[in-house]
Amino acid sequence: MESRILVDEGLFDEEFIPERLVSREAHIKAIASSLSHANCGRSKNLFIHGPPGVGKTLVTRWILKEHFDKNSVYVNCWSNRTSHKVIRDILLKTGSIVHGKEPTSELVGMFETKPKKIICLDEFDHLEETDILYDLWKNSRALVMISNTSYSLAVIDGRIRSRLLLDEIEFKPYCTDEVFDILRERVDYGMRPGAISEDLVSIVSRMCNGDARIGLQTLRLAAREAGMQERDTITIEDVKTASKFARKYRLSYLLGKLNEHQRIIYEVLKRNRSMDSGRLFEEYRKKVKETVTDRSYRNYMERLVELDLVREISSGRWKKYEIV
Ligand SMILES: Nc1ncnc2c1ncn2[C@@H]1O[C@H](COP(=O)(O)OP(=O)(O)O)[C@@H](O)[C@H]1O
Ligand SMILES: [Mg+2]
Repeated sequence: MESRILVDEGLFDEEFIPERLVSREAHIKAIASSLSHANCGRSKNLFIHGPPGVGKTLVTRWILKEHFDKNSVYVNCWSNRTSHKVIRDILLKTGSIVHGKEPTSELVGMFETKPKKIICLDEFDHLEETDILYDLWKNSRALVMISNTSYSLAVIDGRIRSRLLLDEIEFKPYCTDEVFDILRERVDYGMRPGAISEDLVSIVSRMCNGDARIGLQTLRLAAREAGMQERDTITIEDVKTASKFARKYRLSYLLGKLNEHQRIIYEVLKRNRSMDSGRLFEEYRKKVKETVTDRSYRNYMERLVELDLVREISSGRWKKYEIV
């Protein structure tokens, strides 16, 4: 059935790459300048990080498409977590015929004979093994590694990390006006004229704490809600209902980004709502078979805090955590 509100729902898809980006000029400049030699040969490697929904994936893909279309490959490591899958994905995207049953070493061999490109590894902290980074680096013009947290380089073996000499670029959350501009642009092209008022778009922008993904989700869900009730305009009630769903979606999106250990810690803490760090560590340790170190526990906690799933409260000498 044709939507009464949406002209083109595809514009609200995560995969959609708009022709024009809103703001982020400084980031675009920094990334393009870091990669500026990649069309002629070897370029610098990049580490891009920042919280979810701040344009890391979009801005990077947009630059690759705009300036390095023939010389780059994009891989999402969340859906390709093993070395085998990463190499297979790169080979498939660069026109090789692979069946998928070949051993990883054979795929790496094939990859080494191909012309070098920029390799973008989005959400690279989900890689189950990181030795492959060395092969990718050796046979590429540059590696662009993206992650939701600044601690994620810790997953990479120190020797490989020091070779990569990564240029670091941080994406901070958008301010309300920037989210407003992003949403307005999609509304202008994706919805029928008059389907939503400026005031409502502004309310949505204020609700999403600098996360454009939440804003776009909320608008899309609100449009569906209004459409289901056979109305031509979105009301504040639609936005309220949509925003509840968008928040639930955000939580499941974030939980989906955790590894098994982080999820166990999160579950333990969720059951207790708030816990001393020492007790949380003990309970978590009882739940996993492998030995866990204090150091990796600290890294997991930093990630949970950075993703805004867990809050740290210091009470005197002891650290305490609570669920957000
Ligand atoms: N500067 C921007 N201009 C237009 N759309 C944007 C911009 N930044 C983010 N978006 C949109 O917001 C959503 C989240 O952006 P994304 O790049 O996937 O975030 P991240 O990778 O940081 O989690 C996507 O739908 C994207 O198209
Ligand atoms: Mg992303």
